[in-house]
Amino acid sequence: MMSAPVTAYRASIVHFRADPALDPQACVWHEDGLLTVQDGRILAAGDYAACKQQLPADAVLLDYRGKLIVPGFIDTHVHYPQTDIIASPAPGLLPWLESYTFPTERRFADPQHGAEVARFFLDQLMAAGTTTAMVYCTVHRESVQAFFEESAARNLRMVAGKVLMDRNCPEFLRDTAESGARDTEDLIRQWHKNGRQLYAITPRFAPTSSPAQLQLAGELAQRYPDTYLQTHVAENCDEVAWAGQLFPEARSYLDIYDRYHMLRPRAMYGHCLWLDDRDRQRMAEAGAAVAVCPTSNFFLGSGLFDFARFDAERVLLSLATDIGGGTSLSMLQTMGAAYKMARLKGCHLSALRLFYLATLGAARAMQLQGTIGNFEAGAEADFIVLDPQATALLARRTADSASLEELLFALALLGDDRAVAATYAGGVLQYATP
Ligand code: GUN
Ligand code: ZN
Repeated sequence: MMSAPVTAYRASIVHFRADPALDPQACVWHEDGLLTVQDGRILAAGDYAACKQQLPADAVLLDYRGKLIVPGFIDTHVHYPQTDIIASPAPGLLPWLESYTFPTERRFADPQHGAEVARFFLDQLMAAGTTTAMVYCTVHRESVQAFFEESAARNLRMVAGKVLMDRNCPEFLRDTAESGARDTEDLIRQWHKNGRQLYAITPRFAPTSSPAQLQLAGELAQRYPDTYLQTHVAENCDEVAWAGQLFPEARSYLDIYDRYHMLRPRAMYGHCLWLDDRDRQRMAEAGAAVAVCPTSNFFLGSGLFDFARFDAERVLLSLATDIGGGTSLSMLQTMGAAYKMARLKGCHLSALRLFYLATLGAARAMQLQGTIGNFEAGAEADFIVLDPQATALLARRTADSASLEELLFALALLGDDRAVAATYAGGVLQYATP
């Protein structure tokens, strides 16, 4: 049998084999490197001089010298139906949901609308260098269908799910405990592990689900343990108080989900700003993960995430945009905001840690290490090419960077989608700067 052709990419290559906060050897850097890809998977990442020898004679070589290849970014919490309401003004989370979010989500009853927004959204993700995302759809099953069809057509590794909400929201956006569970199970059967698509059971947040709905969602989460689960927790003080009134028997907001068996591996909790030590210990023990959403938390004035406290308990962490609450789809901008948020809590995050959180850290939080997130042999070939000279200011600053840490720091603080020169998913070029 003829073997598939090998494509090789020459650039400076950076990826991680561990968390740089815990292991000083975690970062792998080939200053003049070569990444080889065959059949949509990584063959190897190494030094150009050594790897060049092993290339088959018919390999295609692409020259990205002067640029940086890193694994595709992973955004672990984003609402595709909120693309059109990014940057909509409101005094905090609950008024923002009422004034903008619910009306815009109503439009997704129309499958044509869902398909059009899904196309635009995925184009934007590719331009931002994000190759995997955990995506909230709307309460309409058609919105999930539209999203997965578009993602599958591009062979992207995406996680998505139908929002469950059966109370405390407008009538036109409600399912019922039973219909929500039925739709979810149908969608799991159709889409979970269908090609690169993965399903996330998605109760929006405890206040918009009845106990009966949370019960059924938790049962599905147990019956299909390799699916994902995603929800919001402890984002905003008013929301925390509301959840407490609705579920007075729970010890804490997080404990509501715990009581319905939703703390488990592959469960991704958005925000986690107002949790206590016991909550953090439970998350670590259960293998549940956090999606830290800094641009959203700044925009909605929700609060500051406490990296040091979560690190002390070794909770799985990742970074996310939370569009439309967030203000940028760029994970570089998200890293910059995470850095500033950590500073306001007295903590210094290194650029290595920020890039780790947006790549291998997220893959680990999703139990997808070995599949995405770094360049180990056999991983799916999702990678991006960053241009440290994309803007005049970046070029000037990075010309003078004394170390890899300084170069990555400048990209995280000054970079955005303009710094993404090319995006590859499954070894196929999805986007290149015009
Ligand atoms: N909490 C419940 N729903 C939402 C949402 O759509 N966005 C944000 N940021 N928080 C939420
Ligand atoms: Zn959200």
